[in-house]
Amino acid sequence: MSTNSIDSLLHETRRFPPSEAFAASAVATNELYEKAAADRVGFWADQSRELLHWHTPFTQTLDWSNAPFARWFADGELNVAYNCLDRHVLAGNGDRVAFHWEGENGDTASYTYSELTAAVKRAANVLTKLGIGQGDRVAIYLPVIPEAVIAMLAVARIGAVHSVVFGGFSAESLRSRIDDASAKLVITADGGWRKGKVFPLKPAVDGAIANGTSTIEHVLVVRRGENEVDWTDGRDRWWHDELASVPAEHEAQAFEAENPLFILYTSGTTGKPKGILHTSGGYLTQVAFTHKNVFDLHPETDVYWCTADVGWVTGHSYVIYGPLANGATQLLYEGTPDTPHPGRWWELIQKYRVSIFYTAPTAIRSFMKIGRQVPNQFDLSSLRVLGSVGEPINPEAWIWYRDVIGGGETPIVDTWWQTETGAIMISALPGVTSLKPGSAQVPIPGVKIDILGEDGTRVDPPRGGLLVVSEPWPSMLRGIWGDPDRFIETYWSKFSVPASEGQDAVWKYFAGDGAHVDTDGDIVLLGRVDDVMNVSGHRLSTQEIESALVSHPIVAEAAVVGAADEATGQAVVAFVIIKSNQADAQTADEASALLRRHVTEQIGAIARPRQIFIVAELPKTRSGKIMRRLLQDVAEGREIGDTTTLADTSVMQIISDKLK
Ligand code: WTA
Repeated sequence: MSTNSIDSLLHETRRFPPSEAFAASAVATNELYEKAAADRVGFWADQSRELLHWHTPFTQTLDWSNAPFARWFADGELNVAYNCLDRHVLAGNGDRVAFHWEGENGDTASYTYSELTAAVKRAANVLTKLGIGQGDRVAIYLPVIPEAVIAMLAVARIGAVHSVVFGGFSAESLRSRIDDASAKLVITADGGWRKGKVFPLKPAVDGAIANGTSTIEHVLVVRRGENEVDWTDGRDRWWHDELASVPAEHEAQAFEAENPLFILYTSGTTGKPKGILHTSGGYLTQVAFTHKNVFDLHPETDVYWCTADVGWVTGHSYVIYGPLANGATQLLYEGTPDTPHPGRWWELIQKYRVSIFYTAPTAIRSFMKIGRQVPNQFDLSSLRVLGSVGEPINPEAWIWYRDVIGGGETPIVDTWWQTETGAIMISALPGVTSLKPGSAQVPIPGVKIDILGEDGTRVDPPRGGLLVVSEPWPSMLRGIWGDPDRFIETYWSKFSVPASEGQDAVWKYFAGDGAHVDTDGDIVLLGRVDDVMNVSGHRLSTQEIESALVSHPIVAEAAVVGAADEATGQAVVAFVIIKSNQADAQTADEASALLRRHVTEQIGAIARPRQIFIVAELPKTRSGKIMRRLLQDVAEGREIGDTTTLADTSVMQIISDKLK
């Protein structure tokens, strides 16, 4: 972000206090902050008892004795799926709709809490029949269809661990995730609907486990696309056949609070994605708490819609676990916003009378570009709370969102959090906070955030620094799957202070984001400070894409940067040196097309570079480090910055001359 725009963000003077009517029936209250400030750990214990059903109540709230490996509610026992299903039915809410589902092709389905509970019971029996038990890993590679919800909850119900892989990832990406977690089962579909067509999923699964050494024993296949699939007898089973062949009843057994719930892979600064591990009791407490208070949920009357795919953390926490733990009614949509017409989302809001809507700034900006005449054709008057997640939302988009989608009245909550934090960490509370465009504002009650300078001291507002979480929180990641050293190195080494005589160690979680505090104490997020890009709210690693490029036989070297992009926040731009014996084999355009396809195969279409520049040299320091900052200047069409530390100062001149 340029200095200029930070300045204007920090001098944002518009304020939107809650209306009296909204505040009068708001779920959140100021008292939450007071209680949490008085006794942070006790506050979470109270929330957990209030929001969840514990088969065995906990007596211990936080065990931080083995920091940074936290244990929350460790001697308590619960069943996550029971909390999301059975208890609502037992409380007399079985006829409440858990979700309405819309397929992109116009198919629809609705599940009440009773129906969803029944489906999950059968699916749990299928998993047990296929030999899955507590602690086993199950990969899920599905579109946004009801079976994705059912599969995740069924895995949770038997104490197993799901690893959901976004359906847009390639066979290669799926393979590395299956192998890293040693998954025993994959649940997939024949295909799903996207942009008016069926896209296949099963071939990627077949490819991912074809090497003969895979730990996968069975593949469960949901019929959705009705497309042809290859079949391996014995290994592959149809979901509907299996569900019909098992008993309907299944009693949920309680598991300890720290029983692993899921692994979700996310990009870090190195080439290999990290398997972020979340467990049960603390995670469910914080997702339920935030879903209720940040979105002002009134479960009897609200219809909630989060547009995230279940393959991302937002889908885990705010499509599956938060809303279902709270007994909410929601909408689930399979497809893209613009199919079959650019008003599809607004049409769905009108059709289901959606009242709470949660999406990403990249979507809002692309709707802004199309213009207000599209949403204006629909009745959006049911909306009363809007949310934003995934990247900073610029004030212009914030105001447009409020005016055009929210009728000029709805509160907007800009929610900052990460795959690692499990749940929302920084956000306004509607009905309580006076809103400020462009700022995520304040930590939620019970969360302690600081903005530190490089030297580890707190910066005085209005100053910029690095965002840290200074105290453990219930939904924090419990580790990186199979790699405790990397967990400590990545998140806890930069600002933690080791124990010394008479002094306990101080553990501070480094989030990898830059942030500013303004004079009101509100937090303005500035984006990643490491080699992680944010493209349309999706996290991508520059090194992972570089590795994919270099794995192609024609490539000698590659450097990838995230260049500012009006629509997607950042876009992938690559600089590639072709091997000298290959340089004449194709034109730069052909090579670039070939390599864009290659990245799609290696990682997935989300990582496909917007542009690939074929260059003769890359700018390097004398110690051989690529200076991405200079490449970013080129990619963003700026004057090239200071080149004096380059080993060969003429390199940038050559690159920029060639690109002109
Ligand atoms: C960015 C998504 C500014 C941030 C839930 C973070 C945000 C990364 C916001 C995590 C926000 C997320 N304002 N930046 N409201 N929300 N981010 O793991 O850089 O996919 O570190 O989790 O997204 O991305 P992840």
